[in-house]
Amino acid sequence: MKILKNYKELSSTVADIVKRQLKKQPLSKLVLPTGDTPLGMYDELVKRKLDWSHTITYNLDEYIMNPDHPCSYHSYMRKNLFDRTNIYPDHCHFPYRPTLSFEDKINANRGIDLCILGIGSNGHIAFNEPGSSFKSRTRVVDLSLQTIQDNSRFFGSAEDVPKQAITMGLGTIMESKKIVLMANGDHKLQILERAMYDGVTEDIPASILQRHNNVEVYYCD
Ligand code: PGA
Repeated sequence: MKILKNYKELSSTVADIVKRQLKKQPLSKLVLPTGDTPLGMYDELVKRKLDWSHTITYNLDEYIMNPDHPCSYHSYMRKNLFDRTNIYPDHCHFPYRPTLSFEDKINANRGIDLCILGIGSNGHIAFNEPGSSFKSRTRVVDLSLQTIQDNSRFFGSAEDVPKQAITMGLGTIMESKKIVLMANGDHKLQILERAMYDGVTEDIPASILQRHNNVEVYYCD
């Protein structure tokens, strides 16, 4: 785990990793996160004026809601990255039903080169909440009360947060060739340390990353 000076350094460090990936392999397949943490990284990526025309992206998750709703992850990605680059909308995928078709699409495009993750305050990655099977695939899940509470800041109130989502599974994420996890803020430090240094347990979904052979973790407070 690398501790960085501040949020600016966290954002540019991860943006540089994405940039190197796209320069080395323009036809890269990326998995991308949403939430507060990656906002600076997306700004940095836009500033770098990369060629996204060959890149394929998959988002980690999406609420069960109208994708045009301003709080959907479709809207988030359009606003923060897709509408600000030359990526083709047809190359941008979100988990959808039937969930096995989403997995088939990933396989048909020959897997995932680089997966960028955040971590929830309960140790979730994507919307794989505590207790999720390490073998899980893309599926519909119920959000935990903790996640609903955490994400109420985007919706105005906990009642307005959708109670279900479609998420890539832990098994799916672990098949990525390379994984980068980014975390920002004191409130994430304790869960991050437990995930990285304590036992590997389905109670802390991010702990599965200890079993991946190409993971980088970046944190700033
Ligand atoms: P955050 O979300 O970046 O908004 O803290 C991270 C996550 O829940 O994975």
